[in-house]
Amino acid sequence: MTANDGTPIEILPDQQPSRLADCRRCGLWHDATQGVAGAGPKHAPLMMVGEQPGDKEDLAGEPFVGPAGAMLDAALKEAGVPRHDVYVTNAVKHFKWEPRGKRRMHKTPAQKEIAACHYWLEQELDDVGPRVIVALGATALKSVLSQRTATLQSVIGTVIEHDGRQVVPTYHPSFVLRAPDEDTRQRAYGAIVEALKVAYRAAG
Ligand code: URA
Ligand code: SF4
Repeated sequence: MTANDGTPIEILPDQQPSRLADCRRCGLWHDATQGVAGAGPKHAPLMMVGEQPGDKEDLAGEPFVGPAGAMLDAALKEAGVPRHDVYVTNAVKHFKWEPRGKRRMHKTPAQKEIAACHYWLEQELDDVGPRVIVALGATALKSVLSQRTATLQSVIGTVIEHDGRQVVPTYHPSFVLRAPDEDTRQRAYGAIVEALKVAYRAAG
């Protein structure tokens, strides 16, 4: 398995898709093709947490291989963060969608689904032990901070101490892809690149 830029991606033994396939902690497994495990080197200093697999990821069984992933790879490159120092995963492991014509439209996971799937993220945090977590978007932030509540807007651009780790909140790449105008797009993309730089520096 490789990332968009050709870097080999390794899936940790504890995160094998076969284990996610048996998960019934919430109902999202039912309409998804497969569970999508996180991927990256064990003991990566940096963990990036997204929301949930998209249409492409659901079919491929790998995180961030679609358009959002391509943008993330570009942002990592621009920030000077080598892909082999990053473990990539999602707050929710099954794709939540609703039919719109022939397409499967992304649906934002509910709080109870985020909470149910936190079980898997916790295992990844234990296995990988990153010093720094980049939370991509509001869903990731909710999951990473567990019970603590913070709106993305109120904490973006800051670094949060949580559970002995540093959490760097930023926009989800889909926010950039959906930006209504070029100015918003540039600013959101710039904010992601900046967050990745801050996170990588903090990860030492
Ligand atoms: N968006 C996410 O949050 N995660 C993916 O894996 C793909 C798109
Ligand atoms: Fe389990 Fe998460 Fe899938 Fe829900 S989304 S069934 S909690 S793996």
